[in-house]
Amino acid sequence: MQLQVAFCCLLAIVGILLARIIAALKVHTNPIHDREVKDGEILGNRKGSLFYFVQITDIHISIFRDPNRIPDLWTFCDENLKVIKPPVVIASGDLTDATREQPMGSQQYEEEWRQYSNSVRKCKNHTKAWLDIRGNHDTFNVPSSNSSINYFRNYSAQGRLHSYSYMYTTKEQGYTVNFIAVDGTTEPGTIKPYNFFGIISPEGFAVLEKMKRDAAIGNATFWFGHYPTSTLLSPSPGMRELMNDGMAYLNGHLHTFFMMVPKMHTLHHSGLIELELGDWKDHRIYRILAIDNGLFSFVDLRVHDWPAILITNPKDSMYMQPTKEPLWKMAKSTHIRILIFSKSAIRHCQVKIDDADVGQCLQSDGPLFVLPWNPQDYSKGLHKLEVSAMDSDLQTRNETIIFSLDGSREPFPFGGRFALMSDAVTTLQEQIDMAPGRNMAFLFGDFNTQAQCLFGFLFAAWILPLCILRICHYRILGGAFVKPRLSNDFFGRLARNFWIAAATDRIFIFIMLGMVYLLIGPWFVGELADGLYGVIFLWGTFVGNVYQPGSLSYFYGATHSYSALDYAGSFAE
Ligand SMILES: *[C@@H]1O[C@H](CO)[C@@H](O)[C@H](O)[C@H]1NC(C)=O
Repeated sequence: MQLQVAFCCLLAIVGILLARIIAALKVHTNPIHDREVKDGEILGNRKGSLFYFVQITDIHISIFRDPNRIPDLWTFCDENLKVIKPPVVIASGDLTDATREQPMGSQQYEEEWRQYSNSVRKCKNHTKAWLDIRGNHDTFNVPSSNSSINYFRNYSAQGRLHSYSYMYTTKEQGYTVNFIAVDGTTEPGTIKPYNFFGIISPEGFAVLEKMKRDAAIGNATFWFGHYPTSTLLSPSPGMRELMNDGMAYLNGHLHTFFMMVPKMHTLHHSGLIELELGDWKDHRIYRILAIDNGLFSFVDLRVHDWPAILITNPKDSMYMQPTKEPLWKMAKSTHIRILIFSKSAIRHCQVKIDDADVGQCLQSDGPLFVLPWNPQDYSKGLHKLEVSAMDSDLQTRNETIIFSLDGSREPFPFGGRFALMSDAVTTLQEQIDMAPGRNMAFLFGDFNTQAQCLFGFLFAAWILPLCILRICHYRILGGAFVKPRLSNDFFGRLARNFWIAAATDRIFIFIMLGMVYLLIGPWFVGELADGLYGVIFLWGTFVGNVYQPGSLSYFYGATHSYSALDYAGSFAE
């Protein structure tokens, strides 16, 4: 009976957690309001104001691993950047690997930074601005930003000018575009594997608030940094609110969960679109982003994917931002607009809508290809637009988007959003099977809170039954009721194990002390950054004289509680 009550309580807790998550995952659709069109606002066959740039992330230059990372980076610069000619390239952190030969140890290697610096010098031949920012690997073991092993200062493109976050403004094609680089690395930067979460200090937050005010006069602001907001601790009202008027927040760090979540993108309640990018390290991925007369679009590609196709009008319905983009321009446009880049001339470009051929697109100006269309034919609901292109080297590629002209959004597959709380691998795999290529994964809430919830849940699942059973045990001894007969199935045996643990003083006290120690005890004392000693607790880390809240320790604690439960379960088998 008591067990059932305890079980119901646990189910209720899980239910509440799930409800919170589902509420957090809702994405609202807004209708697109019609507008009178003035001259010069029509999206036609002329270029108008068209700006594009490139992002790359998690390069992880290493002197021990994958010697092709650097030659491939040179190919990226000498081929991709040379063809695309973006005025701006963003490198969102983990520029070097800083990992020892044995993967658990970390160290800053000047040689890795020298190689990074040489590569950037090559790349800068094909772009005006290489905007790099630090990631956690770039601060492993780095006690402070003015330490001699903070090689970012001397070897990166921006480090000589900027120690932390910075803003870069460019004027191109009638646009003033601001890029705000968010440095979320911790100071001191601790060793691997404790250095995972980013932290924005109150002072750092104030600096970013000022940049946001300064950026207000531009036409668009892109925020970028290493850490997704789910792994970035920041003062209230938080980064998602701070960045809410930006066109997007671009980052890396999670490596698309080893490509299990190839489209790790989300639209936050604050109105912010967040786009994590797969890594250079193992997958050689990069991203092209464009603002075509106000409409924002992007495509993620691999280094050898040619031709690179980016459809800019109409845009993908998933990423529509009615308060930031003139979405009404799509329904009034006279041409479908596509950016196509390749190493050789484009020979052929075919467009299909809803699987029906609508014609060939023709080059208009530079990489812009256009095809006349009648948007009225597609005014209601969702439609599929497919572009295939072939270049003179006979390389062919396809690009497909789902668009709408009435504000409809493609429904978000639930599985990906659910993934982080349930069994990530199976849910995601199901989702990938269901919607090939179009799965959206959502980084909801923040990892630190989820880790706390998970830890709290597993901790309670361990402690509560023991305490309840111990109370039952004493009441049975006192003659309040007789001991129930336990069945011989899995749950019966599990309950019997718990019962023995609860009823035997020595075991009970041993477990309780162990669990209390998990909560309050220092887990680890040692050198946590170069020359800096520190202590790690469940709830945070003291290093030097700095307290850093939140770390992977809740996950480690949850794993510990889980293995304790699993151990009890294995006895029951
Ligand atoms: C950018 O903003 C300026 C000033 O508000 C405006 O005059 C200009 O038309 C805008 N450019 C584009 C392409 O929207």
